[in-house]
Amino acid sequence: MNIVIVGTGYVGLVTGVGFAEQGHHISFIDLDSKKINKLANKELPFFEPGLDEYFSKEENFNRMSFHENYIDLKWDETDIVFICVQTPNNLETNSVDTKFLESAITEISKLENKDITITVKSTIPPYEIENVCKNVGYDRNLLTFNPEFLREGSAVYDFFNPDRVVIGGLNQEKVKKLEQLYSSYDAEIIITDPISSQLIKYLANTYLPMRLSFANEATRLVEYSNANLQDVLKGVGLDTRIGLHYFRPSPSWGGSCFPKDLIEVNNFYNKNELNLPLISNIIESNDEHLKWTVNQLISLKQSNNLEKIYLVGAAFKEDTDDLRNSPTIDIYKILSKMEIEVIILDQQIQVPEYSHVSSINDIAPNSLVSIMYPQKDEFSSELNKFCSKNSCVIYYPWS
Ligand SMILES: NC(=O)c1ccc[n+]([C@@H]2O[C@H](COP(=O)([O-])OP(=O)(O)OC[C@H]3O[C@@H](n4cnc5c(N)ncnc54)[C@H](O)[C@@H]3O)[C@@H](O)[C@H]2O)c1
Repeated sequence: MNIVIVGTGYVGLVTGVGFAEQGHHISFIDLDSKKINKLANKELPFFEPGLDEYFSKEENFNRMSFHENYIDLKWDETDIVFICVQTPNNLETNSVDTKFLESAITEISKLENKDITITVKSTIPPYEIENVCKNVGYDRNLLTFNPEFLREGSAVYDFFNPDRVVIGGLNQEKVKKLEQLYSSYDAEIIITDPISSQLIKYLANTYLPMRLSFANEATRLVEYSNANLQDVLKGVGLDTRIGLHYFRPSPSWGGSCFPKDLIEVNNFYNKNELNLPLISNIIESNDEHLKWTVNQLISLKQSNNLEKIYLVGAAFKEDTDDLRNSPTIDIYKILSKMEIEVIILDQQIQVPEYSHVSSINDIAPNSLVSIMYPQKDEFSSELNKFCSKNSCVIYYPWS
């Protein structure tokens, strides 16, 4: 098929490169000309394990083209458009910012080719889509939805091995086109209406941080009770109704999706009509855990008479360079405000706006070294060796 991908971020690029590997022809469009130029020069704008291999494979690359203007695309030959633009939180209104989606749908609504299946991959509540379509005069019943569940850090694997594919839409022909595209996948395809398709995405992104927050609250209770954290979490998680997967503590959770999607899920309902005390308190639980982690760091520093704090790992988790809502950055800012000397250590990710180093040898002796998420084995053992030689204390907020 001929597929257009609007937005070459984590979702758009992984999706497009994945479909190119399956033999489809992909035209990428992004308003960010720097990204488009990079891509056209065979350079990826971010790191995602395995993506480069598929992206730079000659036969795949020859099936891809990169554009910054909508008019440059061959719309009359296009079968499916995937809209993968960002849907961040608007800090003023505390709700989803639809301007990127609105600009994409405005451009697409000018198309003559009404047979194209226009599919929203971005995470967006259907009532916002209704507003966007009204604003730009587009028939929302013609839109299809295919929410994305990939995890940064294993996005390429997730593209080829999804747990399920969700398609939402009211137009049968367009839904069928998407079903056909995914027919070779070994995953159940859930076909449903647009609202249900988005609720699947939003509730998945509610359950996952809720589970992480549960593990974090459990961690605080275990520490308070002077019990053994690893034994307790293992003992709880081995119950097959609970499971060990996605059941580890963290300095708090972050990333580009959970925080904004949780804010948004709580905008779905009128608080006078519906009371959801669990769902409405997950963010508060996470904020509380971030404060707890900061206090742990301060008390470890004080009780061991240490001078500086190093936060190892700048992103929100391993195997990504995405800094959006990274707990490391949040903790860095809180500690700096308290005039505690804090430095970020990351070998790969550059964070020039913060005090940072990129080599273990740059760690000052007599420091607290907080490893924010699991690191590669070799790096971890080097860190351990360095810390034991240089009177540093290591702290693992995730184990
Ligand atoms: N990142 C994830 O792990 C993930 C996972 C599942 C779902 N999602 C959802 O997918 C969507 C995209 O997320 P992302 O992280 O890939 O975003 P991103 O910020 O990495 O990329 C979005 C891209 O869209 C481009 N863009 C914006 N407006 C445009 C327009 N009108 N025309 C063309 N290009 C435009 C931007 O320049 C940017 O390159 C969001 O709704 C997000 O919630 C993200």
